Amino acid sequence: MKGVILAGGLGTRLYPLTHVTNKHLLPVYNRPMIFYPIQTLVKAGITQILIVTSGPHVGHFLGVLKNGTELGVRHLEYAYQEKPDGGIADALALAENFADGEPIAVILGDNTTDADISDAIRRHKEGAVIFLKEVPDPQRFGVPVFDAKDPSKIVKIEEKPKQPKSQYAVTGLYLYDPKVFDYVRQCDPQYAGRGELEITEVNNFYLDAGNLQWEELNGFWTDAGTFDSLSQANKYWGQKSQASHTPTQHARSASIVR
Ligand code: TTP
Repeated sequence: MKGVILAGGLGTRLYPLTHVTNKHLLPVYNRPMIFYPIQTLVKAGITQILIVTSGPHVGHFLGVLKNGTELGVRHLEYAYQEKPDGGIADALALAENFADGEPIAVILGDNTTDADISDAIRRHKEGAVIFLKEVPDPQRFGVPVFDAKDPSKIVKIEEKPKQPKSQYAVTGLYLYDPKVFDYVRQCDPQYAGRGELEITEVNNFYLDAGNLQWEELNGFWTDAGTFDSLSQANKYWGQKSQASHTPTQHARSASIVR
């Protein structure tokens, strides 16, 4: 399976930081944000990656990522989203040639997770798979509404509902078959009244066709597109990195004691 990272948008909620560079190159602890989705894909065995980007700082990506080989990427491509705030589905439309009729794993460039999605990728044959995570603030996301009689079944996904009907967020990781590009073409820019092509509409097309599966994402997940979530991501990855150094530090201090 090939991978697509959507790193367009304008990152207005992170102004003035995003006046300096593209949101996805801002630091999350000790690495640029985009390293995290790249590593999620590489860890799942995906080494052919397309990055869709846009906005005034697109050139910065090349200097940071080069050919991606240092991160384990075998083939790295870039695409440019002409309308930087055209929406997630608008950015995804640019991946059609790259996908070349194969299924794709899609991840938003500001999502950081330590979840392992390799099993889901191995199992995926057709349709769409979305990954859900329980969050304290579902109104910021697409939110699944579960069937009252069968809570394993999603009846619809609501985009940023004021009164969410569940505590789950649809995270920015998705697996799609090639049908996704037909669905993107059917998207209505006024679907959520923001003039953007919404990924929630695409997911609802799959749902209506009876071809959407969901899984709960294991492990840590957050987006990093607001000051609060960016700070949360920094904190988590900082603690994780320090914890992974602790045994060596213990060993070192133990040998000093000896
Ligand atoms: P958002 O955080 O919803 O949008 P944004 O990045 O433009 O930020 P803001 O709302 O603060 O202005 O988008 C989530 C991710 O989706 C983002 O990290 C990159 C991707 N995206 C695109 O690739 N193209 C787009 O047109 C949009 C809106 C988002």
